[in-house]
Amino acid sequence: MGTLIGVDYYPEHWPRERWEVDAKLMREMGVDMVRMAEFSWSALEPAEGEFNFGWLDEAVSLLAGYGIKSILGTPSAAAPEWIISENPEIQPVDYEGRIRYFGGRHHNCQSNQEYRKHIKRYVTAFAGHFAGNPDVIGWQIDNELGNSHKDLCMCPSCEGRFREWLKEKYGDIKTLNEKWGTTFWSQGYQDFSRIHAPKITVTGHNPSAVLDWKRFCSDLIVEFHQFQSAILRAAAPEKFITHNMMGFADKVNYFDLGEDIDFSSHDQYPVGHFHAVHNISRADRLAAELDLIRGTKNRSFWIMEQQSGISGWEVLGRAPKPGQLGLWATQSIAHGADAVVFFRWRACAMGTEQYWHGILPHSGAPGRYYEELKEFSNKIKPLLEELQGTVPKAKVAFVFSYDQLYAIDIQPHHPDMSYVSHLMVYYSAFFDRNIPVDFIQENADFSMYDLVVAPLQYIMTAKLGEKYKEYVRGGGSIVLTMRAGVKDDTNLCRTEAPLPACGLGELVGLEVHEYDCLRGIDNRVLWEGERYVCKKWCDIIRLAGARGLAVYDSEFYAGTPAITVNSYGEGTVYYVGTEPGKELAARLVEEFMSNRDLCSLGESPADVEIAHRRGDGKDYIFVINHTGDSKTVRIPEDWAPYYEEQSGEVKPFSTDVYIK
Ligand code: GLA
Ligand code: ZN
Repeated sequence: MGTLIGVDYYPEHWPRERWEVDAKLMREMGVDMVRMAEFSWSALEPAEGEFNFGWLDEAVSLLAGYGIKSILGTPSAAAPEWIISENPEIQPVDYEGRIRYFGGRHHNCQSNQEYRKHIKRYVTAFAGHFAGNPDVIGWQIDNELGNSHKDLCMCPSCEGRFREWLKEKYGDIKTLNEKWGTTFWSQGYQDFSRIHAPKITVTGHNPSAVLDWKRFCSDLIVEFHQFQSAILRAAAPEKFITHNMMGFADKVNYFDLGEDIDFSSHDQYPVGHFHAVHNISRADRLAAELDLIRGTKNRSFWIMEQQSGISGWEVLGRAPKPGQLGLWATQSIAHGADAVVFFRWRACAMGTEQYWHGILPHSGAPGRYYEELKEFSNKIKPLLEELQGTVPKAKVAFVFSYDQLYAIDIQPHHPDMSYVSHLMVYYSAFFDRNIPVDFIQENADFSMYDLVVAPLQYIMTAKLGEKYKEYVRGGGSIVLTMRAGVKDDTNLCRTEAPLPACGLGELVGLEVHEYDCLRGIDNRVLWEGERYVCKKWCDIIRLAGARGLAVYDSEFYAGTPAITVNSYGEGTVYYVGTEPGKELAARLVEEFMSNRDLCSLGESPADVEIAHRRGDGKDYIFVINHTGDSKTVRIPEDWAPYYEEQSGEVKPFSTDVYIK
């Protein structure tokens, strides 16, 4: 068997005598790998150049004795105090120009050359030491890159790198001034050396400058990863490199980061303390993040951290209910995870994460979470072995764009608008119909899909516009939404034509001359006699070849088109000029399905998800009950139960699996 079930383990937090007890318990639970050492710099290099790898060697070999392999992390997300003391300039500077001091983690700048020297020394020694150890199977670089304080770093070193990045992009300062529109408010620069990070200012920033800053930060993080991966690859070319990503987190373009790793990993915390409002991530949101992570490399992935108990730092989230730990893990598997690593093995007695509980409680005595995961692991492992490397087969693709995300984040238009929440309105409607979807980036091959959903195509380039047209001309169907073709790629408003500009008007067969931002109200659309709520924004549409499907129901533009469809070449283009409410999104998916077979996996009650992975000639179908009640699902005759005890009645927080 491969490595399928793991735990995040911190042996240095516990007495040496306990390790063997842990290893035995892990083995009984079905654990076959651990991730270690991603925060262990001071324990592994207590003073400059004095390496103390002995305890980690011992942990790796003790675990190996129980059939457990190790993945080791590089510790650059938590520089030890002695490094900070030697080079205090490593500490990051935030938006307000304040230093963020030592005392937590992520107290480092990613461009600082002195910090790079420390990392190079450490990673070279670390990689050299473990390279020949067959029980160490792979590496994770840093930890959740981009999960620093929210402004990342605006220190002089990062500003210097930003200037180099800009010079490389624009060549001369005159071009930068044009592309950033610096005539406005006298913002012209005479020289690249005068440009700073977009720190706190009196008013809003120049949106063009901020967009480039965000792109630069992402590129810097990717380069920071490459700097370490080069050392690891040179030392141990046969070991894999992965990274624990964070779903829709936006600090780093995960497609770019994906190019530097062997496979992606994701950290899944459905009821973490950070869910301030709802206390739990909905199943559709969890699913969407999994689909995005699979999309980053268009292949199966790992979960490197999954919540395994009640968790929080200063305040806590809800306790996982009986069955939920296995349910979340199975959902990840259903969306393409080849392995699930649980965070963490045992609740830690010290530090910031004392209440971010593990499988074992503080006392170390196995309890409910341990027993549940033991049962889960033993049940899932044979299936998971069969599933290795398979992925869902989707006919629908969502274009996921960090540029659009950044640009909408800079100017959300409506206070409640965000790129991800707008995209989620559509995703959820497909999810509710059990239609599998992929997340792809703009430069992907669209031809494998029958329907491409491209929400908020706000930043538009001639190349992308042409690509959309070509896809539709050739017979593809596409969904474009409000605010398409508004900006050029340096975040200046397009002026060459009415919206949607950049040639998209011809594709969608309409023009938008005016719009309304729905502050404090919703609107409705009228579609074949039914009224549906729409929110946040209304493009006021003039048809120019397209056919109206639904019209606005109120305001001065009542009766004008809100949703349209156009034939273009061999294909079909939908345009939705507003943000649909839930029912309208469902109606839209109905419309898309009437046009194309989008391969729904079946009908299911609310909050019962059907997902699949396609193996060699067969489909593995997962019926996932996200609710606390038993649910009945009508099972088609050609689905054979994978587990004997399945009856069509799916127990609370559990999953039935079928083969077709
Ligand atoms: C993240 C990190 C872990 C840990 C958990 C819990 O996912 O990767 O190191 O901090 O959150 O807070
Ligand atoms: Zn910096």
